[in-house]
Amino acid sequence: MSTLFDRAKELIPGGVSSPARAFGAVEGDPIFAARGEGAYLVDTDGTRYIDYVQGFGAVILGHADERVTHAVIEAAGRGGAFGLSTEQEVRLASLVVERVPSVERTRFVTSGTEASMTAARIARAATGRSIILKFEGNYHGHSDAFLVKAGSGVATFGIPMAAGVPESSVADTIVVPYNDVAALDRAFEREIAAVFIEPIAANMGVIVPERAFVDAVASIARAHDALCVFDEVVTGFRIGSGAVQSGLGLTPDLTMFGKVLGGGLPVGAVGGRADLMELLAPIGPVYQAGTYAAHPHAMAAGVAALEALTPDDYATLEATATKLFEGLAEAAKHAGAEVTVVRAGTFGCVFFSADAPRNFDDAQKTDRAAFGRFHRAMRERGVLIAPSPFEAWFPSLAHGDAEIEQTIAAAREAFS
Ligand SMILES: Cc1ncc(COP(=O)(O)O)c(C=O)c1O
Repeated sequence: MSTLFDRAKELIPGGVSSPARAFGAVEGDPIFAARGEGAYLVDTDGTRYIDYVQGFGAVILGHADERVTHAVIEAAGRGGAFGLSTEQEVRLASLVVERVPSVERTRFVTSGTEASMTAARIARAATGRSIILKFEGNYHGHSDAFLVKAGSGVATFGIPMAAGVPESSVADTIVVPYNDVAALDRAFEREIAAVFIEPIAANMGVIVPERAFVDAVASIARAHDALCVFDEVVTGFRIGSGAVQSGLGLTPDLTMFGKVLGGGLPVGAVGGRADLMELLAPIGPVYQAGTYAAHPHAMAAGVAALEALTPDDYATLEATATKLFEGLAEAAKHAGAEVTVVRAGTFGCVFFSADAPRNFDDAQKTDRAAFGRFHRAMRERGVLIAPSPFEAWFPSLAHGDAEIEQTIAAAREAFS
């Protein structure tokens, strides 16, 4: 019998609209989502999973949260794309500016990829320099200049960076190992426009960098008049009501957001110092535009999500994550599996390795085949995690004790 996946493969390359949705790395075929209900995902065969993908971190309140759904329906009733500014967009911008002290102005785009592209353009214009420095295994979206030793799907499928990306597009990209201050220092022998960093890496599994490393990124960039750019597409409004930078007391020049900011709808944003942001057209000479930028439905979803999230919610989510990841570590230990569980506040991941990776090389040496078997065993027990050892697990506010306990029970069997 022909499946939906068979049909999809005839129409869509690989049957998926993003390689991160393929199941090649985890012994299986892609799951087709029919609907989400809080902590649960129901596929087109009617199988119900406890879901830790949660839109690759875009969903934090749980699927189909009533407040977000209601806001989107209301917005849709007022129309679609207007090609004009809206009140909701100003509201969402004010929430970003209020919650992230380094952000004085923000511009909305439709994805994290676009946010990175725009940040790079601003940085190059502001400094009059071309070179962008990024870290191995950090993922800043799929634009050419950033597709060098990137994490996420690029790492999962070991995709060579060359295909379709001309040398010239990456000639001005320097890549340095994560957590390596000496290599960062050496790279500054060249004139660099900006250093891009995921302040908690979430695309080579989850790696919480050493504090001294993040401090060095900020101070070395400053010492060389380069911009410090934080990619908080995953961490923004997920790790707390602001961003990782707030907790560290750091003030990057520019920050990218996405995921949670859109409440599950397509939103990206770049924000930062007013003088830098006002280099953007129509004030300045840096061009950026979009038919769907600040789309009213997405703005409504973002406002509903951010307004719903209270400080108590973040404390609850952190408690949920602690229970989940401690339980997973305990389950692995009980089964005698060589596993390291990493939690970064409200999210985390499971590495099949004796120690927590510090960088991309370490992450690549973890046992991917074991992860594939684990993924399958969890799936068979009704738990869905992203189909790659390099993606994070995202518990949501809809995950309660019952879901966490069921997940840990499934993991106990899966690890053994
Ligand atoms: C840290 C980070 N930056 C940027 C992006 C790109 O965002 P998008 O997929 O919305 O283009 C992602 C996507 O996963 C990400 O994790």
